[in-house]
Amino acid sequence: MAILMCRPEYFGVEYEINPWMHVSVKVDHTLADTQWRTLYAAYQRLGVDIELAEPHAGLPDMVFSANAAAVWDGAAVLSNFRHPERQGEEGYWRRELERRGFTVHALPKEVAFEGAGDALFVGDRLFCGYGFRTDRDAHARVGRLLGVDVVSIELADPRFYHLDTCFCPLNDRTVLYAPDALTSASARLVRQLVPHVIEVPLDVAAGFACNAMPVDGCVVSSLAAGRLEAPLADAGFDTLELPMSEFMKSGGGVRCLSLPLDMGRS
Ligand code: ARG
Repeated sequence: MAILMCRPEYFGVEYEINPWMHVSVKVDHTLADTQWRTLYAAYQRLGVDIELAEPHAGLPDMVFSANAAAVWDGAAVLSNFRHPERQGEEGYWRRELERRGFTVHALPKEVAFEGAGDALFVGDRLFCGYGFRTDRDAHARVGRLLGVDVVSIELADPRFYHLDTCFCPLNDRTVLYAPDALTSASARLVRQLVPHVIEVPLDVAAGFACNAMPVDGCVVSSLAAGRLEAPLADAGFDTLELPMSEFMKSGGGVRCLSLPLDMGRS
């Protein structure tokens, strides 16, 4: 498994584009660096090939590589960030992906799309979120460009503004998700389409427990995932809980810091 990460060299909370971000709350940069390195080391131990993107000054959210693009089988659909604060990342992400041999597609400028933050595969079906960052119009376009079927999921709670904050595919038939972060129709759709769901209460999801990365049988997540150890063990997964406090001040956790590069290629 290959994952793209970006060192938190210029990370900080310098603007407010989600309800977690408060410029008045100081980020401990040393601690952020330690937390990021701990995640990096955990991936290394689990045998992940880690690729590093170059961080850039003035782009404090570039650490959240999940938002670079949606990736499938050597192709990528680049993000069109909703907020101007992050739009400066787009050209850099294009270069990072092209450098690695991806065919990079772009959407029309007026269609907002925030990459794997709002686009997650369950098997070969792409679940796409909308309601806060990504436009629903983006979904079918992304599906066509990647040649995959798409399911649109409506987000209902502004704290869970990207799909990956409340929904995490663990394997081809299992999803860890917080139904209350979705509209009731979308939660119903998830239950209909996914053979095995593990439901997470909102207060646990608010600790970024669903913002997780499964690596084989191990679910790497934030400390809040400690409260999911039992249901995850029942489903056959180990849990690895890592402190993510500094990134949570920006509305991110483990998954946001990670872009899997080899989806559709195994
Ligand atoms: N501060 C970042 C933003 O609001 C956090 C991004 C989190 N990324 C994610 N994939 N959920 O855009």
